[in-house]
Amino acid sequence: MALAHGMRKVGVIGAGQMGLGIAFVSAVHAKVPVLLHDRSASQIKSGLALMDKLLGKDVSKGKMTQEAANEARDRVTVVDGLTDFRQADVDMVVEAATENVDLKTKIFGSLAAELSPKTILASNTSSISITKIAASTIPEGKTAAHPEAQQSTSRVVGLHFFNPVPVMKLVELIGAVQTSQETLDRARAFAVACGKEVTSSQDVPGFVANALLMPFLNEAIMCLEKGIATRDDIDKTFRLGMAHPMGPLQLGDIGLDTCLAIQRTLYQGTGDSKYRPSVLLERMVDAQWLGKKSGKGFYDYQ
Ligand SMILES: NC(=O)c1ccc[n+]([C@@H]2O[C@H](COP(=O)([O-])OP(=O)(O)OC[C@H]3O[C@@H](n4cnc5c(N)ncnc54)[C@H](O)[C@@H]3O)[C@@H](O)[C@H]2O)c1
Repeated sequence: MALAHGMRKVGVIGAGQMGLGIAFVSAVHAKVPVLLHDRSASQIKSGLALMDKLLGKDVSKGKMTQEAANEARDRVTVVDGLTDFRQADVDMVVEAATENVDLKTKIFGSLAAELSPKTILASNTSSISITKIAASTIPEGKTAAHPEAQQSTSRVVGLHFFNPVPVMKLVELIGAVQTSQETLDRARAFAVACGKEVTSSQDVPGFVANALLMPFLNEAIMCLEKGIATRDDIDKTFRLGMAHPMGPLQLGDIGLDTCLAIQRTLYQGTGDSKYRPSVLLERMVDAQWLGKKSGKGFYDYQ
């Protein structure tokens, strides 16, 4: 039976930080059955353990009854591959696999070959062109203008959730140049059912959020690189002067490799020198000083 948002079942690809969060809000808030797929069995195991922990926390805080938590957990089924999405006849797939253009275009090509052209295909990418991802769904041997190609690409959309998904209220909705209005409306309704507020962005490098945030972080790193201020004073300036919950260097430490990858996308995608990644950022990533995830970034996390 279709719920108010029109989705009877959804598939989620990737059980990492983002995919797991998307599966969580889909099951808890949108109350829709979720088929979760990841190529890594250990990632599935740790993802499901995290989901149990999040549900347990909500129950202990009185945000949810034990019965509702059990129901939400029962809505999530782990599946082996994309054929399971076809067999279950999912209405939408949200892809949250690793940020890599070749990987994502391959996944979308396989999804398009496997699933009905009516199935919405959404990507949670932070920076890759949704238009390029949509083009990867054109059936083999067909031109982009062929009606089958137009039907296939028109159901691709960007649905950019923020980290951590259960907490952050925003989803950016990004239409590729091929996306239909119906796809945008259905994807928006689903994000709202997941308990999110939705903003729209054109398909430009970084969309709105990262096109504004990453240059800010990059400038903060350049400020440190040039010796204009110390790490602590740069971060303090924004915590105490602008009421930011954390300073830009602390925020970058959530993943300096991801910051660099997005900054490069902005630079390459626009050709504008104002987006040139800071040399210090490049060197920190060369050194594997990636922030929290590697134990060292602008701060130490040992
Ligand atoms: N982490 C963030 O803050 C954040 C915020 C917004 C958007 N995003 C985007 O969300 C996506 C996922 O990011 P993440 O931080 O969750 O990464 P992650 O590394 O935590 O998880 C990615 C998962 O994808 C799986 N995967 C890779 N290739 C696969 C394939 N072919 N089939 C199935 N599973 C596959 C990996 O095993 C891994 O579990 C990326 O596109 C990223 O840019 C991340």
